[in-house]
Amino acid sequence: MRYFIGIDSSTTATKALLLAETGAVVGVAASSYDYETPEPLWSEQRPELWWTATANSIQQLLAESGVAGTAVAAIGLTGQMHGLVLLDKKGEVLCPAILWNDQRTGAECDEMRALIGKQRLIDITSNDALTGFTAPKILWVKKHEPEIYGRIAHILLPKDYVRYKLTDGFATDKAGAAGSQLFDVRQRDWSAEVVSKLGIDPTWLPKTFEGTAVTGQLTPQAAELTGLPAGIPVMAGGGDQAANAVGTGAVVDGVVALSLGTSGVVFASSDVPIVEPNGRLHAFCHAVPGKWHLMGVMLSAAGSLRWYRDAFSPEEDFDTLLAPAAHIPAGCEGLLFLPYLTGERTPHPDPLARGGFIGLTVRHGQPHLTRSVLEGVAFGLRDSLELMRGTGLANITQIRASGGGLRSPLWRQILADVLQAEIVTVNSTEGAAYGAAVLALVGTGVFNSVEAACVELVKVTGKTEPGGDTAVYNQQYRLYQQLYPALKQTFTALSGF
Ligand code: XUL
Repeated sequence: MRYFIGIDSSTTATKALLLAETGAVVGVAASSYDYETPEPLWSEQRPELWWTATANSIQQLLAESGVAGTAVAAIGLTGQMHGLVLLDKKGEVLCPAILWNDQRTGAECDEMRALIGKQRLIDITSNDALTGFTAPKILWVKKHEPEIYGRIAHILLPKDYVRYKLTDGFATDKAGAAGSQLFDVRQRDWSAEVVSKLGIDPTWLPKTFEGTAVTGQLTPQAAELTGLPAGIPVMAGGGDQAANAVGTGAVVDGVVALSLGTSGVVFASSDVPIVEPNGRLHAFCHAVPGKWHLMGVMLSAAGSLRWYRDAFSPEEDFDTLLAPAAHIPAGCEGLLFLPYLTGERTPHPDPLARGGFIGLTVRHGQPHLTRSVLEGVAFGLRDSLELMRGTGLANITQIRASGGGLRSPLWRQILADVLQAEIVTVNSTEGAAYGAAVLALVGTGVFNSVEAACVELVKVTGKTEPGGDTAVYNQQYRLYQQLYPALKQTFTALSGF
């Protein structure tokens, strides 16, 4: 029996997952770490943390599963997207990585639009400039840390720093590279125009590969540190959202992946490159070779419910908190919740956006507020889905849902009603790390394609159909959509206090 390892370097932990060639998950091990916020809006992490956590997690995985390292045939990589890792010419880390959730680069996003032209930027990179993406972070370093900028020899994404430590090579996957905003997403390669207009030296950028391609081999030093055999291939893999979509089988037109964790992500695969005309949806390459995807990201999804529980009912578990909300009528008797508790990305890229309950009366009790949080998050996710439907991806038939929030049958039903689509759960619950291992399995030839692997490995375990509340939710959703434009100026002013 051969085994495959998927590694996911997320913002809070690095997870290693062991997959047998039959597709069965044999074990999972994780090592956690923190990120730093040295200034308001900043978010940073030392790249060394990912590598130490990777080596520890692989060792722990082998020890706990009893599988010999020599039985591992390949590694697939995934991880947090968009982070900026800078190395000097000796391959040494120059400064802490600036992460995907760092919001310091508003001015640099404007600079990018001025240098390239907003429409030209969208035409090439398929996206409008966003503080989360990698490119404005490079401009920020140039402006604020010229000494560091002057020593840059390599630019990597977080998962590709792990790849560098595993293989001693500089490479990335096309899904991750698309999230840098230096990429021509249609052509699936770096954009010479964007790179040169931003004054970036093209030799700093790693070579890009499709998700199932081999990017290098495990070095003897990495073999010693991990307990794996030197020489095994390390596959490109993909950014965490693309790898998660592989893990849930969202690899064909019409099937959407919905992930309801702290953030909420709506992800649709596409056989052709599609762009939302105003760049409001992220449009990237998929980790599936030759495919693309659209993605909407809500920053506080299950994070909104956690905030609400922690603020108002810290003693209660989620089941106890949610139970009374099931008896409240859909629409909460005219109460709406805005989920922009940590600013927003899709469809309102605004770090200063704020949350709120709108429509309170003395009739409303706590169960109304609870239900309203669940509904508000569903409306926010519908914003992304509506944008997708508007781009021509009209045939969205099934939503494959994953993440902690989906454990609630009430939330699943609200989502099915608000999104007007069947919500299904699947047997693969390990998300991105599982997807990365599947990409390695395909890259080694166990399956002919990612799509074929998903048909074989990812099975539907439960379904929730839209019910009788869709009409009420349609009406409320229209009101929800009016709130952000009406309150935008107020949010900006409130952020000054
Ligand atoms: C995707 C994104 C997040 C990070 C965090 O655009 O920013 O999914 O990758 O994991």
